[in-house]
Order: sequence, then structure tokens, then C-alpha cells
Amino acid sequence: MKDILFNAARAAMANSHSPYSKFPVGAALVTPAGNVYGGCNIENASYPEGWCAETSAISHMVTAGENQIAEICVTAEKMDRITPCGGCRQRLVEFASPDTPVHLSDQDGVVETVRLGDLLPASFDLD
Ligand code: THU
Repeated sequence: MKDILFNAARAAMANSHSPYSKFPVGAALVTPAGNVYGGCNIENASYPEGWCAETSAISHMVTAGENQIAEICVTAEKMDRITPCGGCRQRLVEFASPDTPVHLSDQDGVVETVRLGDLLPASFDLD
């Protein structure tokens, strides 16, 4: 599955709209049903209005009617082993569990898999 997610994240990254940072990012997640949703970062001339690849992928999942992340992969064109930003970690927590695998990659594939709970311990949760 991690290879499928890496390839989907790479494909999503190809559509990144990042003319300001010139830092394309792609993400792809799979749900327990086996559906894969990709996303890229989408920037804006009003810089704070842009958003991350993980956020795009979550948006596609929720819009399709699903709300559980089984695994996720993140990739960046110009950084090996990119990790989700702080805001995206909190967004992932909303739809995942502490044991959810987060696959980190270089240009060729997944190089490390970490638990979401290790990326964001003691996360805010209303439950
Ligand atoms: N970015 C992501 O898409 N995901 C992350 O986890 C880190 C940062 C994007 C946001 C912005 O478009 C570019 O990378 C540079 O920060």
C-alpha cells in the first residue's frame, strides 16, 4: 500500500500550484474501504490563503463522503523525508488514530514510516 500511496502522492504533486514557494508537495491517503485520495498544495497571491497537500487530500476524502484515514504518504519535490506541518498534523488527527501510519518519502519512495501519535503527541481532541 505504501508504494501505491507514494505514486498517488507523486501524481498529485505534479499538479501543485506553488508559484510563490516553488516547493511542490503531494499527499495521498487511503481509507479503510481502500479508496485513495490525493492532494497537492495550492498557494495564492495572498500568501496566507494557500493550503497544504495533506489538507487537499483530506478535503477530497471528506467531499467523497469518507472520514477515516488508514494510512497517508507525503512527498515533496525538493525535500527528502518531508513531515506534515503542525497544522496538518492536527487536521490528520481529526480523521485518524495515534497508530495511523504516516509514510515519509524521498524522490524514489517511502524511506520511513512513523505513527501519527508520535508526530503529534497530546493532541487537542474534544472527545
Ligand atoms: N506544505 C505542504 O503542502 N505540506 C506540508 O506539510 C508542509 C508545507 C506546503 C505549503 C506551501 O505551499 C509550501 O509547502 C511551502 O511551505
